[in-house]
Amino acid sequence: MSKILITGGAGYIGSMLCTKLLHEGHNVTVVDLLKYDKGSLNHLYFNKKFKLICDDVRNISLMKKLIRKHDIIIPLAALVGAPLCEKFKRDAVSTNLGSIKTLCRLATKRNKIIYLTTNSGYGIGEKNKYCDENSPLKPISLYGRTKCDGEELVKSKVKNFVCFRLATVFGHSYRMRSDLLVNNFVHTAIKKKKLTLFEPHFRRNFIHVRDVVNAIIFTIKNFKKIKNEVYNLGLSSANISKIMLAKKIKKQYKKLQIKIVTNRKDPDKRDYFVSNKKIEKKGFKATISLDEGISELIQIFTNDKNKVINNY
Ligand SMILES: NC(=O)c1ccc[n+]([C@@H]2O[C@H](COP(=O)([O-])OP(=O)(O)OC[C@H]3O[C@@H](n4cnc5c(N)ncnc54)[C@H](O)[C@@H]3O)[C@@H](O)[C@H]2O)c1
Repeated sequence: MSKILITGGAGYIGSMLCTKLLHEGHNVTVVDLLKYDKGSLNHLYFNKKFKLICDDVRNISLMKKLIRKHDIIIPLAALVGAPLCEKFKRDAVSTNLGSIKTLCRLATKRNKIIYLTTNSGYGIGEKNKYCDENSPLKPISLYGRTKCDGEELVKSKVKNFVCFRLATVFGHSYRMRSDLLVNNFVHTAIKKKKLTLFEPHFRRNFIHVRDVVNAIIFTIKNFKKIKNEVYNLGLSSANISKIMLAKKIKKQYKKLQIKIVTNRKDPDKRDYFVSNKKIEKKGFKATISLDEGISELIQIFTNDKNKVINNY
């Protein structure tokens, strides 16, 4: 069993990941400032293999000590999403990129780094483009740039790494995010019973948060086989347009009205679909469907309005 350090482990992906890694028998240490949800890891305190350090990932002396003591490092701590990074530019750069620079400097060949970035830079201005790992990433937001630069650093400086470029994540987590597209559409559908779509045929790729966790578990088990490569990570059957997504939600939530506005442009210009074949060929395939995710989200947002927490 490994000693795993997760920065940002109390977040949307991290809280689900820590839970599963402990279940698998690993030792898990989290460094997190608990910016959004102070209780997202409460259910883990009973476990003797779990430790939460409420501190800043930019605390270099702390990170130096911790990196030395752990085999696997999963750096999730970040200001996530374009609006949040625009609002807190300096913190975005020092957290998203500065902490990765420190990690790359301090990591030794004993450490395995699993880094998550976003695939969203693929599709800017590339209508109907099918993207694989060789397609150029052209991030237009500060968020996207810090994540792409982080990936470049990990690739060039770290001996043992795996990078995943994630599709837009959806589904339930102990620390909920309702700003992600599927979560947001379901939340809006329940709250307003109406979804207004601009440029409804723009396509995106999606993945359930539990599939992201499953991919990381797969990576730990198959590290040698897949290491030192970058992989797209998404659900291949979920390369779908916004209108298709809205219709899927309506199928399960009949009260929903879908309104299409033709005379307005969506400021979000992403329209692309993604090939996940590279990681699938290595043996991992995301399987949790959008329908399953929508069904769980309908339950959550219907029963617990407090589950709705945005990053900005
Ligand atoms: N959710 C997605 O769709 C998605 C897609 C692609 C990549 N990612 C990447 O996955 C990672 C996790 O994303 P998430 O959706 O779980 O986000 P999140 O906002 O839920 O989690 C980020 C966590 O980092 C913590 N944090 C922020 N600044 C910190 C600091 N200075 N020191 C310590 N902790 C700090 C926050 O308290 C929070 O718990 C990020 O690196 C993100 O870029 C997420």
